[in-house]
Amino acid sequence: MSSGKLTYLLALESSCDDTSVAVVRGRSRDDWPELAGWSVQSQDLVHERFGGVVPELASRAHLKNLIPCIEKALNDASIGWSEIDIVAATGQPGLVGSLLVGHTAAKTLSFLFEKPFISVNHIRGHLASVFIEARPAYPFVAAVVSGGHTSLYWVASAHEVSELGVTLDDAMGEAFDKGAKLLGLPFPGGAEIDRLSKAGDPRRYSFGRVSVPGLNFSFSGLKSELYRLCQREGESLSREDAAASYQRALVDHLLAKISSAVEEKSARRLALVGGVARNSLIRSRLDTLVNEGVIDEWFAPSPAFCTDNAVMIGFQAFQEFKAGRFSTLQSDVQSTSRPARGTRT
Ligand code: KG4
Ligand code: ZN
Repeated sequence: MSSGKLTYLLALESSCDDTSVAVVRGRSRDDWPELAGWSVQSQDLVHERFGGVVPELASRAHLKNLIPCIEKALNDASIGWSEIDIVAATGQPGLVGSLLVGHTAAKTLSFLFEKPFISVNHIRGHLASVFIEARPAYPFVAAVVSGGHTSLYWVASAHEVSELGVTLDDAMGEAFDKGAKLLGLPFPGGAEIDRLSKAGDPRRYSFGRVSVPGLNFSFSGLKSELYRLCQREGESLSREDAAASYQRALVDHLLAKISSAVEEKSARRLALVGGVARNSLIRSRLDTLVNEGVIDEWFAPSPAFCTDNAVMIGFQAFQEFKAGRFSTLQSDVQSTSRPARGTRT
């Protein structure tokens, strides 16, 4: 493809419980593409009464939502299918049944219409999400904090990403969601805890300080502490104070590890991505790091691009296209982040 040709890329995301499709376009000489159109269909109402994502129901909802989402994204981009040059989909990590829906649909489109296919890593997609609306400079420390993943990365360039640490048990969003369930709040509970905490005293209930080696995380002990607090206090528990105290403990742990990573890498910039990046306490604590001169700046996508979306998958697929990394139709989905069979690197 000539570096001057405008390439249209269709990206599908179905790794967990949101079905999303995006069209991005760019020339191979561009650093990043631009967003042409996108759509997202949440499944919150499907899973709400179970208090968590039910994998079988998630796959079925993706099957129902995917084609309408593709139509909406193409309409939003004001283009027809024939203008698409490349098809991409999230291949890993995620719920296997959910991944299979988007990945298989993308491979089928690729086969039928003879368009190249690119299988994308979801975490790399989250890391690319900060470039959707801005052009932050490299290098930076990145915190991926979502319902399924919590890790720290050193991002030296678009193609040089190394993991610094990872959660050894629950993801931070999972800890928010399970904590919300203990407090009787609706699913997904992260935003509910954030909202309720504003009316609570974060020092009312004390939580232990988490101790875990290196730049790794552990959130499940704090969740158990909240469980014991709920048992102990019973009816006299203040939900607002419990939410605020629990949120503070989770955020203290995240910020302690972020600060250590920044110090270890002598970093001046930080990126915050993933659904939990919407959290207001984390955002104000990062502002404090800037005010204290610990970092020069931090950046995060706007809320719609923090949670799972196909735009970030399209942005990462554009990097793979620029590097000539296409996938074969033998490429398979993986529940964890490993090189997928059929992915040429
Ligand atoms: O990135 P995402 O859409 O899905 C995964 O890849 O897992 O993240 C969803 C997570 C949920 O756990 C949800 O509770 C959490 O993001 N979340 C929040 C907030 N908004 C969403 N957690 C804390 N505070 C928020 N304001
Ligand atoms: Zn995600």
